[in-house]
Amino acid sequence: MQKLPGFRDFYPNECAFRNYIFETWRRVARNYAFQEYDGPTLEPTDLYRKKSGEELKTQLFRFNDPGERDVCMRPEMTPTLTRLVAARERDFRKPIKWFSIAPFFRFEKAQRGRLREFYQINCDLIGDASPAADAELLALAVALFRAFGLTQSDFYVRLNNRELWARFLTDRGFPPERLSEFLAIVDKLERDEESTTAKKLGAFGLSLGELKQFLATPTDQLPGFEDLFRELRLRELEPFIQVDLTIVRGLDYYTGLVFEVFDRSRQNRALAGGGRYDGLIKTVSDGAVDLPAAGFAIGDVVLGNLIEEIESARAWAEAYCRAARLQAFVIVAAEERRPEALKLVEQLRSRGCATDYSLHPMKVGKQFQQAEALGAQYALVVGQEWPLLKMKRLADRVEETVSLPELTQKLGLSPAYVPHPYL
Ligand code: HAM
Repeated sequence: MQKLPGFRDFYPNECAFRNYIFETWRRVARNYAFQEYDGPTLEPTDLYRKKSGEELKTQLFRFNDPGERDVCMRPEMTPTLTRLVAARERDFRKPIKWFSIAPFFRFEKAQRGRLREFYQINCDLIGDASPAADAELLALAVALFRAFGLTQSDFYVRLNNRELWARFLTDRGFPPERLSEFLAIVDKLERDEESTTAKKLGAFGLSLGELKQFLATPTDQLPGFEDLFRELRLRELEPFIQVDLTIVRGLDYYTGLVFEVFDRSRQNRALAGGGRYDGLIKTVSDGAVDLPAAGFAIGDVVLGNLIEEIESARAWAEAYCRAARLQAFVIVAAEERRPEALKLVEQLRSRGCATDYSLHPMKVGKQFQQAEALGAQYALVVGQEWPLLKMKRLADRVEETVSLPELTQKLGLSPAYVPHPYL
């Protein structure tokens, strides 16, 4: 049996890498004082009808459940989040700063960086419409990449404000209702042939030249970014951020700031995307709750590819995965000491030290091989010298004889937790 196209198996190595990404995301988001939440994987299709953007609506995993409900595997988190917030808005102090790490489903053409099941971290800030809130989100977005050892020469944020295009259209006499039709043209600029774009612009009576001229407006002549950039400068984030009028985002709900994160070499698809969606909560709650909101999501697929491509980031990931795997391997060098060795194994485990050992009597050399193969950091040899034992760091084979209290200290286990007298 084959797995479905666009879906992944996670053998232990892939799972370790995925966990590295999740653990890093979670740590950084918490450092920025965002709280974790989650929602259901399956949602009523109506939730996405209201505002998800035309392209997304063609990519839904949609079916009738056995109770004849029209349902969808969630393609994104934002509509679910707005539902959660609208339902219990009064219970939470503003601004609401929440994040979530979860799987999503889109029936996309499988290609590099795009799968049918993928993970995202979503970070959203609700109840504050100021540039300070936008800057806080951008700072978190940048931090979520730097935490993997990625630098300003590896990735950058391309940022825009949809209002600039709204003004461009109204200045030329178009009604606001035509904005999303127009933004769809800008959104496809990089991928479409110039002749295709020119043809699409024809429907607006606009020329490609006119569009290009606007795109070339120097950043300091674009209104509305002053406060945001003052904040970004204070946080020393300017080198990571570039204003780019071609970024408009494919989702309909964005109202102002929009941004996407790309790798500098531009070999990959977008690493992340987000923006401000001040009207969505009101739409989803049928007018009951009206709160400004902004947020973004980073996907695990493109990020994973980028980490693999950048030598230092890959080495960092490998070191993390190795260290997370196994700290200690207890070697039974004298079978009559097996009871003590087993006690030691359980003691170490109960105090948070990932520990393994050989289930059956085995030559010492074989046990060392097993320790190496499992990637243990230390081999702990329990033999005749008990209660002293040999502690060998497998990376550089440095060996020393230690007492149990010394072992505790060297493994960085707090003596405060000791439930038994002998460690
Ligand atoms: P999005 O741009 O659709 O935004 O997705 C964000 C990121 O998720 C993309 O940049 C990409 O890394 C990843 N992604 C999307 N589709 C796929 C796929 N088929 N395979 C692999 N990765 C994928 C949103 O989802 C918005 N809801 C983000 C947001 C949160 N806006 C406000 N708050």
